[in-house]
Amino acid sequence: MIGNEVITIDGLVGSGKSTTARLLAQRLGFRHLDTGAMYRVVALAASQDHILPNHEGKLKKLLEDLDIELLSCSESDIVILNGEDVSEAIRRPEISRIVGSFADQLVVRNFLVERQRGVGKFGGTVADGRDMASVVFPDADFKFRMVADIDERSRRRHTELLSKGIEAEYLQVREDIHRRDIEDASRDYGELSSTDDIVEIDTSNWTIEEQVQNIYSLIVSNREKIKS
Ligand code: DC
Repeated sequence: MIGNEVITIDGLVGSGKSTTARLLAQRLGFRHLDTGAMYRVVALAASQDHILPNHEGKLKKLLEDLDIELLSCSESDIVILNGEDVSEAIRRPEISRIVGSFADQLVVRNFLVERQRGVGKFGGTVADGRDMASVVFPDADFKFRMVADIDERSRRRHTELLSKGIEAEYLQVREDIHRRDIEDASRDYGELSSTDDIVEIDTSNWTIEEQVQNIYSLIVSNREKIKS
């Protein structure tokens, strides 16, 4: 329905998908669903309880008791785990290093995919992640896939970490992104969406504002086409 659509933005680490999705959601008056943040919360909660990715029973129990809230704010999203603000903790490099192993667990994916669909079912949602277009919202009204070259993605992620007061070396960030690209490419679940109806956007030479404006314009012009 026009004005109440589900919009998906999939992309690799550092492609700018989450920031673009947050700003686009603000502009459209939609909610932003950052699904990477949900996987990160699971990894953080599990590591706090010393649960490993292959501890299926313990993970199941952890998920049943998990209280996650995603709040949209103008500057950034706030992520609450069991009443505590973990927005910064879930972005720490040590969580980035382990999150993929938790996101690979079917028990985690099934649980989070259901939660994500629950958020999107009323429309008015911009959801970002890896498998939004292919698995979570195959009937989404607009599907975008953002790509950018690895140097640009590493530069963006490095700047983002520093701006959050998290110390990081550029070369280490690039190495982590390279490793996670390889991990991402060889996953059984949560593969980067590739559907016939996805619009691929290469953002290597664009600022975040340009990315948001371009996607926004595509949505508005498509809405006008539908109306006429
Ligand atoms: O986008 P991100 O770096 O915040 O994602 C964190 C991790 O979660 C990353 O290993 C990929 C995984 N992920 C996923 O498997 N499926 C999603 N829909 C979103 C993220």
